[in-house]
Amino acid sequence: MSNILCEFPYNDHKHIALVKLNRPKVLNALSTDLMRELVDKLFELDDNPEVRVIILTGNDRAFAAGADIAQMVEATPIDQINDNRFRSWQQLAQITKPIIAAVNGYALGGGCELAMHCDFIIAGDSAKFGQPEIKIGTTPGAGGTQRLTRAIGKSKAMMLAMTGEMIEAKQALDWGLIAKVVPSTTLMQETYETAKNIANKAPVAIKLIKESVNKAFEMSLSDGVDFERRNFYLTFSSSDQKEGMRAFLEKRDPEYKGN
Ligand code: CAA
Repeated sequence: MSNILCEFPYNDHKHIALVKLNRPKVLNALSTDLMRELVDKLFELDDNPEVRVIILTGNDRAFAAGADIAQMVEATPIDQINDNRFRSWQQLAQITKPIIAAVNGYALGGGCELAMHCDFIIAGDSAKFGQPEIKIGTTPGAGGTQRLTRAIGKSKAMMLAMTGEMIEAKQALDWGLIAKVVPSTTLMQETYETAKNIANKAPVAIKLIKESVNKAFEMSLSDGVDFERRNFYLTFSSSDQKEGMRAFLEKRDPEYKGN
């Protein structure tokens, strides 16, 4: 059975791909194989000119309950190095198209880290987020201490990582970890509506926004603003910028070509 499923389920929108984590018996625990398959699939979608937005999800019970503990329990540091276990995580950052995490159920440890690697998170009201690695004698290892701290601040990140406590979706929203909470039963429909909104925008400008926002975590404010301005100039070499502005002035809907 494949650890990753990929569909194009939205007949009225061929530009949106849905990727599902598929190890339901172990709450989508993120094995090395799953992570490799996930990255391979995401690269394939990133290279597919038809695809403009990717939705990443799990199932009603779990987005993902973390790295696969059974696979790690007896590992040595050298096993982890030789396995290149973290290479897949680094590769996730190379995807240029928008990825929305649609989270129901548990997003814990590596599952929370995976959701945070996505561009933003929409959660069902059943979702639970946390970094519980401390409960099994270790620490977050795929960016949890870094991305969570940037998202919700030092004090709350320290508390979550040191206690291993989970927070509900509403709390995650109030703390700025996620973009939106919706009823769990309508999560996929609501995420689709947001994906459709983005897929109808100029695809190159969307990629440049992703790049510029992510730079905010890496650069000083003045360097980041310079970087942003260059991306802004760059959009003026696209047909989509001309189309978007002309359509506005002509009071019609734009038709973007992605160039
Ligand atoms: N790895 C491997 N298997 C896991 C797993 C994980 N992270 N999480 C759950 N499972 C398995 C369980 O072992 C169980 O398998 P069996 O049916 O064969 O016993 C199955 O999934 C269902 O889980 P539970 O019976 O435990 O379900 P529950 O509803 O009672 O509890 C839970 C749910 C609170 C999420 C609990 O499963 C849990 O605490 N899971 C572990 C969470 C965790 O510690 N995650 C961090 C992992 S380390 C990490 O992620 C490091 C990193 O940063 C890279």
